[in-house]
Amino acid sequence: MSAAEVSRVVIPAAGLGTRFLPATKSVPKELLPIVDVPTIQYIVEEAVRAGIKDVIVVNGRGKVAIEDHFDIAFELETVLRERGKKELYDQLHAISDMTRVVSLRQKQPLGLGHAVLCAASVVGPNPFGVILGDDLIDAEVPAIQQLIDAYRKHGKGVVALMEVPPEEAPLYGIAAGRALDDRTIAISQLVEKPKPGTAPSSLAIIGRYVLPPSIFDVLREVPPGVGGEIQLTDGLAVLARTEGLIGYRFEGRRFDAGDRMGYLRANIHYALKRPELREPLLAYMRTLTNGGGERR
Ligand code: UTP
Repeated sequence: MSAAEVSRVVIPAAGLGTRFLPATKSVPKELLPIVDVPTIQYIVEEAVRAGIKDVIVVNGRGKVAIEDHFDIAFELETVLRERGKKELYDQLHAISDMTRVVSLRQKQPLGLGHAVLCAASVVGPNPFGVILGDDLIDAEVPAIQQLIDAYRKHGKGVVALMEVPPEEAPLYGIAAGRALDDRTIAISQLVEKPKPGTAPSSLAIIGRYVLPPSIFDVLREVPPGVGGEIQLTDGLAVLARTEGLIGYRFEGRRFDAGDRMGYLRANIHYALKRPELREPLLAYMRTLTNGGGERR
């Protein structure tokens, strides 16, 4: 892969979100708030902090609210201005000013690989980032930036890796390979959702990637895999064999906001970072650990 700049990020957000029903019957899971900010806004902010110019959101049926979230809310902004709520107005307006957001449709949820392939014509001929719409990483250096830096260094596609306990390996794509340094491996093996006890390592692929445009040709040929879906991991396995693929153990705290427990953890984590919420929340949690209930 040439060292072309990574200026575009694809955010697949077209999944059905069945783990979060009934909420996701009418609300996209990517818009469920972490405290008061939708998950996908944290993700777009991460891309913006990494200098990304264009964000391409792949959405599906019932997901137009995601587009609206990054658009100008003219009526709402007018009312806030008239009522003198400047701070709220500024906060809202800043969202639509953040970056260029392009939306496109995955007409059927045929899998993550298929969602990425849907963005092919908009991505164009350069390497690009992928950030999953329900996967949060709180890090000093934005996680996608860490991957872009690894791509610049190695000139190959990069996937984010995280150590997971053996019993959780069947929930992830698992990567194994030769260590290049303490954070980086040259991937030689990739398995999507291995059966218990068969994972080739404890390194799980997490929702951040920097990929060469050649992945699109690979994905066009990949047959449906686990769950009848076109799996991105299967495309990555081909890439690892043909062009080489790097795994990078990122620095940062990761939350799977598409999972109920991960979502609750994310809410607590981000709430504790807010000065106005920290003390009241800690005080409330203390009452729980002391065996007490909520005071009214
Ligand atoms: P998940 O497997 O977490 O999403 O996919 P899901 O299918 O929505 O969730 P559950 O398991 O039913 O609760 C990871 C990411 O890939 C996107 C999802 O929106 C999510 O951000 N995705 C998945 C697509 O865009 N299209 C698909 O066909 C599948």
